[in-house]
Amino acid sequence: MNVMEAIKERRSVRAYKQKPVPEEKLQKILEAARLAPSAGNRQSWKFVVVREEEKRKKLAEAAANQSFVAEAPVVIAAVALNPDYVMRCEVPSYAVDLAIAVDHMTLAAVEEGLGTCWIGAFYQNQVKEILNIPEKYKVVALLPLGYPADNPRGKSRKSLDEIICYETFKE
Ligand SMILES: Cc1cc2nc3c(=O)[nH]c(=O)nc-3n(C[C@H](O)[C@H](O)[C@H](O)COP(=O)(O)O)c2cc1C
Repeated sequence: MNVMEAIKERRSVRAYKQKPVPEEKLQKILEAARLAPSAGNRQSWKFVVVREEEKRKKLAEAAANQSFVAEAPVVIAAVALNPDYVMRCEVPSYAVDLAIAVDHMTLAAVEEGLGTCWIGAFYQNQVKEILNIPEKYKVVALLPLGYPADNPRGKSRKSLDEIICYETFKE
């Protein structure tokens, strides 16, 4: 599978089979996060792999009761270790860095026949407490990972005409 095929095939998966994720596949997906670029190559991140059922249930509750989060046999919490660093362009690097790493994992998962769903609707303090994450860090995303139990249709996207302009910005 090439990159464009993985990009086109990826969907947010919100139903998972009760089938374990093979360790080898998990390691490939984590490797995709490890290889992601980051501002100044700081790699100020940590990825907490959660398999314990009790913890996954608690994470689903912390994610505003999105129960499919606990259905997935693996949930990965993406944690920024330096959330205060702001780049010269006035953009905090942590959200950018972690987004790239998480997206690498979503695409690597597709290649492994696995599904994911970026979860941003969660309570920061609750997830920190469940996973023993120090206050000074920031959880950027939860990523349930498992074999898809549904086959979601692709969501529509704006056309290129709507989102691209050339040479100068146009509203
Ligand atoms: C930053 C971010 C936060 C998101 N949070 C949630 C979430 O909490 N729950 C959920 O079901 N989907 C969540 N999504 C998934 C989006 O709803 C989904 O990507 C979008 O509808 C497009 O669908 P697709 O991923 O299938 O292409 C999130 C996606 C992103 C990028």
